[in-house]
Amino acid sequence: MSMLRELGDVVVAPPGAGADDWRAGIRGADALVSLLTDRVDGALMDAAGPSLRVIGQVAVGYDNVDVAAARARGIVVTHTPGVLTESVAEFTWALIFAITRRLVEGDRLLRRGGWKGWALDFLPGMELSGKQLGIVGAGRIGRAVARRAAAFGVTPVFAARAGATAGTIDGHAVMSFDELLVSADIVSLHVPLTPATKHLVDKRVLARMRRSAFLINTARGPVVDEEALAWALGEHLIAGAALDVYEREPAVHPALLPLENVVLAPHLGSATRETRTAMAELAARNVAAVLGGAPAITPVPA
Ligand code: GLV
Repeated sequence: MSMLRELGDVVVAPPGAGADDWRAGIRGADALVSLLTDRVDGALMDAAGPSLRVIGQVAVGYDNVDVAAARARGIVVTHTPGVLTESVAEFTWALIFAITRRLVEGDRLLRRGGWKGWALDFLPGMELSGKQLGIVGAGRIGRAVARRAAAFGVTPVFAARAGATAGTIDGHAVMSFDELLVSADIVSLHVPLTPATKHLVDKRVLARMRRSAFLINTARGPVVDEEALAWALGEHLIAGAALDVYEREPAVHPALLPLENVVLAPHLGSATRETRTAMAELAARNVAAVLGGAPAITPVPA
């Protein structure tokens, strides 16, 4: 905020404001700083008017921004790649450990007085050493997740993009999505939300996964059909899931809430002090660059 205030007057939107309830506040703005919870569509851009030159999204994902509408109006859209890669990769591993070692389930049980003492067969989880981690999305975050795998004796493999041929990425095997589904012990999602990835994980995909496998989603909620996931978890078609993102945040599908075999995090992937500061600074630097007539530092890909 202090960086932005040096550029001009800063007006803060009421939470969840769209074009209709914020028309007056946004009129004449040169820049818009958006969060992933804001719906930034053509109507909001038009409410700002022709002065609007840059939208600085404070996130790497920008599915909430209508980039085509911005382009049509000559508005530059920027996002914050790179600065959150390590924190999201770390959090992905936190979720992998939490679900495979039943950490949250154990915490819940202990707090309600259910722990009767050490027992040989008490809350056995899945050992990671020797297992295969299937990574869907070989971008910055997916590859950072893979980099950490060797420390735990886990073999990462990547899903090939549709139509791509197999090979290796960073020395790790690339296989078809289907091949990955039937072989991975853990499937972790790192794709952006696009029309092509919406409900990428549906009933059919969940049914293809191993019954002993776990699903991790730190990408975007709608990449998984939550209804189908609740069904698959309830039927024990897969062993468990750990989610950081949801289809209708902050709502969570009610059928997931009573299940023990799912860890539910409140969209914390990038939530470290270091990373959140870096995200805010990068968004402000992007806005400053464009308003100053320079190219954006991290524009969204063309
Ligand atoms: C967080 O979800 C982001 O896209 O940065």
